[in-house]
Amino acid sequence: MTRRPPAPDRRPAIVIFGATGDLALRMLFPSLYFLELDGLLSPNLQIVGSARTDLGDEPFADRLKAAVLERTGGALDPDAWARLEQRLHYAAVDGKTGEGFDRLAEILSNTDDITYYLSTSPSLYGAICSHLKAEGLAHANSRIVVEKPIGRDLASCREINDSLAATFSEDRIFRIDHYLGKEAVQNLLALRFANTLFEPLWNKVSIEHVQITVAETVGVEGRWSYYNDYGAIRDMVQNHLLQLLCLVAMEPPASLDPDSVRNEKVKVLRSLRPIKAGDVDRLTVRGQYTAGLSDSRPAPAYADEAGGGASSTETYVALSAFVDNWRWAGVPFYLRTGKRLPVRSSQIVIQFRPVPHSVFDGVELLPNRLTIRLQPEENISLTLMNKTPSLADGGMELKPLALNLSLDTAFKESRRRIAYERLLLEALNNNQTLFVRRDEAEAAWTWIDQIIDGWNNTSALPKEYTAGSWGPSDAFILVGMNGHNWYD
Ligand code: BG6
Repeated sequence: MTRRPPAPDRRPAIVIFGATGDLALRMLFPSLYFLELDGLLSPNLQIVGSARTDLGDEPFADRLKAAVLERTGGALDPDAWARLEQRLHYAAVDGKTGEGFDRLAEILSNTDDITYYLSTSPSLYGAICSHLKAEGLAHANSRIVVEKPIGRDLASCREINDSLAATFSEDRIFRIDHYLGKEAVQNLLALRFANTLFEPLWNKVSIEHVQITVAETVGVEGRWSYYNDYGAIRDMVQNHLLQLLCLVAMEPPASLDPDSVRNEKVKVLRSLRPIKAGDVDRLTVRGQYTAGLSDSRPAPAYADEAGGGASSTETYVALSAFVDNWRWAGVPFYLRTGKRLPVRSSQIVIQFRPVPHSVFDGVELLPNRLTIRLQPEENISLTLMNKTPSLADGGMELKPLALNLSLDTAFKESRRRIAYERLLLEALNNNQTLFVRRDEAEAAWTWIDQIIDGWNNTSALPKEYTAGSWGPSDAFILVGMNGHNWYD
């Protein structure tokens, strides 16, 4: 690999710790490749991979190339790859002992504008920060990006936050929730705040309930020991689902600057009605999958997944949350997520209230429903009651039809971006709007901890559901007792 001579000016850098790990190879480096392909990386940016494995720059670049090829299904733009390769360095470091940080310091000697991306176990965050500080690498102009999980409860979240704060100030700490990088999640802000149509209706007067579903067909995918320690509530609800809830429920921010948006999200999290021990049976459902079919193939029970065993960890959660403020008083926000469900689908459903009085005698009027589909496809649909062109029912036969906006069709030419592309770019540009602030993460844990405490206080186990089904029957009772149904 031939390298450019070091530039005499200050060159920004990104250092990825855990550079040979799964997330880095599947998401981060392919994202950097796509950003390179689209000409979005600063021309001077240096990219440094760091991990414990003893590797040279070239073998490291070979690994990345293979990872990118896997992601792109074999397509590689030779020019873009050549440009990316020119930027690459590798430094073997031991995050625990600090070995190798001197080599990192040599590579980074020409810059103080450094983005450190910790794609490692959170147990290493504190140690890596101290080594950066000791080596004089934690410049005021640098920043640190950390992956979830930020703790497994409020206490451990605070510990991690304290260990980061010992080296970096909060305005230099970027906590990732990759859902915030998804195009459709961004579009939720556009839908709410770039249109006048919905905002006047966006409250308890017009909205009956909200459903947020993140359904996955996959099981635990070789991550049993991590997953078993976390379960669906910590792995998905504490972060991704609560972030979606915040974006739906928050007040319009004054602007899109980081604090305006995050202040509004924190207010929502602090308005969540606590689900206390006495309420967990009524307001939450836990499930665990048993053997069944997933994507038409036999799927083992959770306990029989590779590396697994008998366990009371939930792979499914449904719950009914309330945001106790003027806008949302009394409106249920139903959240559900699970592994080994029948389809991969994430969506937000806003169910409007029925008309106050029907003039169409004997005709069933279905209330309007806005469905914001986040994945696999991105679209927005609004069901409206319409007249059918027939003379039945005295000439007034009505039927619900949907106004559909398919973003995939509207923007056929655009490539579906990996959420990390946007997040990496925002971090490199030092913009924190799409990253979780400390008080936000801690407010989310405060609410989640109470539910987990409630579960720990009962002898009840998660309810079984067959892999490939929509979860335990109790989840249907949860919404059914309010006269509602889940929309799949
Ligand atoms: C991760 C969870 O944060 O999100 C995984 O740890 C889950 O368990 C994943 O599968 C889902 O992300 P996506 O982008 O595929 O919906």
